[in-house]
Amino acid sequence: MIKMVVLISGRGSNLTSLLNAATSGAIPARIVGVISNRPDAMGLQTAETHGVPTCVIDHRGFAEREQFDVAVAAAIDGFTPDLVVLAGFMRILGQAFVRRYENRLINIHPSLLPAFPGLHTHRRALAEGVRIHGCTVHFVTPDLDHGPVIVQAAVPVLDDDDEATLAARVLVQEHQVYPLAVRWFAEGRLHLRNGRVWLDMPQADGMALIAPQSVAG
Ligand code: GAR
Repeated sequence: MIKMVVLISGRGSNLTSLLNAATSGAIPARIVGVISNRPDAMGLQTAETHGVPTCVIDHRGFAEREQFDVAVAAAIDGFTPDLVVLAGFMRILGQAFVRRYENRLINIHPSLLPAFPGLHTHRRALAEGVRIHGCTVHFVTPDLDHGPVIVQAAVPVLDDDDEATLAARVLVQEHQVYPLAVRWFAEGRLHLRNGRVWLDMPQADGMALIAPQSVAG
């Protein structure tokens, strides 16, 4: 059973999906703390309902971004987690922070990276007229919304979609793939080689590069 800390900034629906997966025993992981940079983040209430300790580190109280990072790292380290999970955490974290948690810091992003890093991914996908959109779980590197991909889920973009309908379709997939990625990590099945993620497949020989057809594994 691994220990993880979840960082949020708002609604916390991905946090909810992870809490549900952890408490039902679907993933061999325990959420030992939730940290938010916003005192009004709805996800804080969800954590408290589940009896998970919470901590608010308001970024507005820090003149320098590095000082904020140091405070967040201190809060994380207080929970001694094996894995740090960014779930709708909307602050950019600096290089020193990212290096400190190298190979145990993961993020979910609402696009098929490397398409549409940054904000307003659904709006931009609609503006570009892409027919396929989705979400990505990846290990975090110092570059924004970048890093070795663990798993992606794709959804169609429909002719009558607006930002809200497309976001909702992607979010359903986010709630599937984030617990899946955490389960793989907790089971020790993810390996980084040459900047790519490989998944141990117990039923197959050797290792398999993660592909859509392996998502059920
Ligand atoms: C999610 O769609 C997540 O992918 C996105 O913020 C939303 C948070 O929702 N994250 C990013 O854009 C990070 N670059 P939630 O608070 O309900 O989980």
